[in-house]
Amino acid sequence: MAPHFSLALSRREFLGGIIGAVALNALPGSAGGFGGVAEKAHPFVAYQFPKDFLWGAATASYQVEGAWNVDGKGESIWDRFSHTVGMVKGAETGDVACDSYHRYKEDVAIAKKLNLKSYRFSISWPRIQADGTGKPNPKGLDYYKRLTDELNAAKIRPLATLYHWDLPQALEDKGGWPNRDMAKYFADYCEMVVKELGDRVNDWCIFNEPWVFTMLGYAWGTHAPAKKDFEAFLRASHVVNLAQGAAFRAIKGVNAKLKVGTAYSVSYCQPATHSQADRKAAARADALGNVWFLQPAMKGTYPEAFVGGNPLDKMDVKTGDMELVKVPLDFFGMNYYTRTIIAAAEPNQNRPGVDLSDSGGNDGPKTDMGWEIWPDGFYELLMRISREYKSTPMEITENGASYLDGPDAHGKIPDTRRVQYLRGYLSALGRAMKDGANVRGYHCWSLLDNFEWAEGYTQRFGLAYVDFRDQRRMIKESGEWYGKLAETGNLK
Ligand code: GCO
Repeated sequence: MAPHFSLALSRREFLGGIIGAVALNALPGSAGGFGGVAEKAHPFVAYQFPKDFLWGAATASYQVEGAWNVDGKGESIWDRFSHTVGMVKGAETGDVACDSYHRYKEDVAIAKKLNLKSYRFSISWPRIQADGTGKPNPKGLDYYKRLTDELNAAKIRPLATLYHWDLPQALEDKGGWPNRDMAKYFADYCEMVVKELGDRVNDWCIFNEPWVFTMLGYAWGTHAPAKKDFEAFLRASHVVNLAQGAAFRAIKGVNAKLKVGTAYSVSYCQPATHSQADRKAAARADALGNVWFLQPAMKGTYPEAFVGGNPLDKMDVKTGDMELVKVPLDFFGMNYYTRTIIAAAEPNQNRPGVDLSDSGGNDGPKTDMGWEIWPDGFYELLMRISREYKSTPMEITENGASYLDGPDAHGKIPDTRRVQYLRGYLSALGRAMKDGANVRGYHCWSLLDNFEWAEGYTQRFGLAYVDFRDQRRMIKESGEWYGKLAETGNLK
């Protein structure tokens, strides 16, 4: 989304757009540095990762598979969104994407070449149930059986995400995530998939970034299904928490030994100044943006994210619900990209009660997506979650950068900026692990350049370059660097 102000967009703003933002430069101690002085970044620290550390990469069904209407797959809300004029840059769609539905063996071969121990992918619900309910589509299940067999043969751990935003359109037509029936539909789908794939996949992410798909899909309208109704977000967020609990119980009901978590979008929420108002606003931003879907699962309560108390009535929270949402997740997935600078702001009708503005920091360099590179925020966020949830292991389920580097005259792709980005964030990760953060794996976003949602193909996050004219994959310099690191674990 186009910036609303001169400051670089934080990932959160970029993804969600921002309402009532204040040009934080005008505030004393703005742009992330307290007192207006640019902050100094922590120096790079080398780190030897543990031998059994899971070096991985991540993708998602709608972003890489293509085959949007092949072998019985139903329409998803992202098919509908990308086929709607004006929703995606360049009128691009995921109809073909990286054609991984047909080229998955090439993708797994790249993962193996990069010495990866883990590959995070997602399962397209409408490929399993075209309309979101009823009998499974054998051809859809078969694709994921072939993909996971290929991964297991390559000794790469499959980490399967059950929902990475591609809801069957037929369920959106029944009200989508604001509809409480979704919890049952989703749990039935999860149970069906795990019954079929549970012998091949041990580790499961229930959702990818529940904050993003509920806030952007139902409040801001910048993602599918393009609704702009904050109260729909509130209802959807509670149903997603109910669905997370129901899915967890359904999966454990198939096999209690399976490991189940969710991949949460998180950002270090840093107060713009030392003022109490900004600190309180940062705490509200952390509550709504980082733990709105984690705390209900682990503690059975919502974190305080709204001035005057959470709007539980508008969320349609019923008696007994919080027992249903409370489930002991086996691990937390953390999708981390950039920090967010938070300042208290006047009440705003688009985010009633949140009363804050957020923006990206300005002390670090920016990726081609305009997101500040500030690894210290990653360290702070990891320690924040670790302090509150000591015993539960974490996996970094996404971290990476968009840089548009392409092949040079020699056919090489010298994306040195991505190498520097990864070195910086992995150094912060090592520092957090040294200080007690219980992190067992890291997945670079992404294995391949792919369909970047409303940005279409204008952004490239891959360790491997994809020429979308002929689907050729080419490992970038960063992929070679990452492959060496995955072999030795020695970050220097
Ligand atoms: C997300 C999604 C990915 C994005 C990536 C870059 O975190 O938004 O999981 O699908 O492509 O984060 O924006």
